[in-house]
Amino acid sequence: MSTPAIEILGLTKDYPVGFWRKRMRRSLDDLSLTVEDGEIFGFLGPNGAGKTTTLKLLTGLIFPTCGTARIRGRSIDDIDMHRQIGYLPEQPYFYDYLTARELLDYYARFSPSSAIERRGRIAHLLERVGLASAADVQLRKYSKGMLQRVGIAQAILDDPQVLLLDEPMSGLDPVGRREVRDIIVELRKQGRTIFFSTHILSDAEMLCDRVAILAGGKLQGVGAPGEIMSLEVHAMDILFELPAGQDVPPALSENVTKIGARCRVEVPESELYAALDQLRRSQARLLSISPIRPTLEDYFLRLVQDEKPRPNQAEVTVR
Ligand SMILES: Nc1ncnc2c1ncn2[C@@H]1O[C@H](COP(=O)(O)OP(=O)(O)O)[C@@H](O)[C@H]1O
Ligand SMILES: [Mg+2]
Repeated sequence: MSTPAIEILGLTKDYPVGFWRKRMRRSLDDLSLTVEDGEIFGFLGPNGAGKTTTLKLLTGLIFPTCGTARIRGRSIDDIDMHRQIGYLPEQPYFYDYLTARELLDYYARFSPSSAIERRGRIAHLLERVGLASAADVQLRKYSKGMLQRVGIAQAILDDPQVLLLDEPMSGLDPVGRREVRDIIVELRKQGRTIFFSTHILSDAEMLCDRVAILAGGKLQGVGAPGEIMSLEVHAMDILFELPAGQDVPPALSENVTKIGARCRVEVPESELYAALDQLRRSQARLLSISPIRPTLEDYFLRLVQDEKPRPNQAEVTVR
């Protein structure tokens, strides 16, 4: 088997809190996770879960309290390793009065290349992120979606094997999200590994080979989006019409919602046939029966609701 793209080994981060900064709070607790080469991996969790902290640890912007990680087999302490990763921060900030072409040219100067080489590479990059026609417009005139694409262009400037994107789709409208999704899919086709954090679950569901769910600094589960959802009990949704003057069967009446002449009822999968028997007796006309697949969103909401203060969140005093 090939070396995993990312191996996270017990990463833990405590931040100092309080005015005197003497107490520490654990924001990431013993996270272990493996991302395979060539995967699109979604890192999901509500605000404050520890997603940005994890990405900053991987990029070497901050240092772990304990634990470590390897990217393509090399430790995050290895400065040279960082050449292989591209990073899009959560809220990238760019100087407003530069154009996208000027900005990328500025970043490109950090690695050795001739002006001509750079020009060609940047034109190609702008094309890839769909900014070719806006390349010479100042960034202050860009929409949020366009800025996010400049951020992605910056992250892939040196053609990294592994991309770490922090909330690449947040704050974008559906069109912007779609564009970012397309870029991510395109990068995977070229054999890159993409690890991105998000709290927009539908994007993760559509895009990811696997997802990990983080809440309160702790890993809650890892799997294909479908796997995580299939753990849930399914229900069935029945839409029907009753003949004029016919009442809803009493056994179902409590759960029926009426929409004009139509009725809708949700029953557990195990009670489907019993419900259908009732409806037949009432001479109901069935309009549709569909399984209610819980979405990742449902799963997520439940996790967040269940989240109680955990022992790891307790503050400890440092002597
Ligand atoms: N520099 C910091 N100092 C103190 N606490 C921090 C710092 N950065 C993040 N935190 C805390 O760590 C927790 C996780 O934050 P973060 O990693 O930004 O979560 P997410 O990206 O999932 O929203 C939060 O409770 C946040 O307040
Ligand atoms: Mg964040």
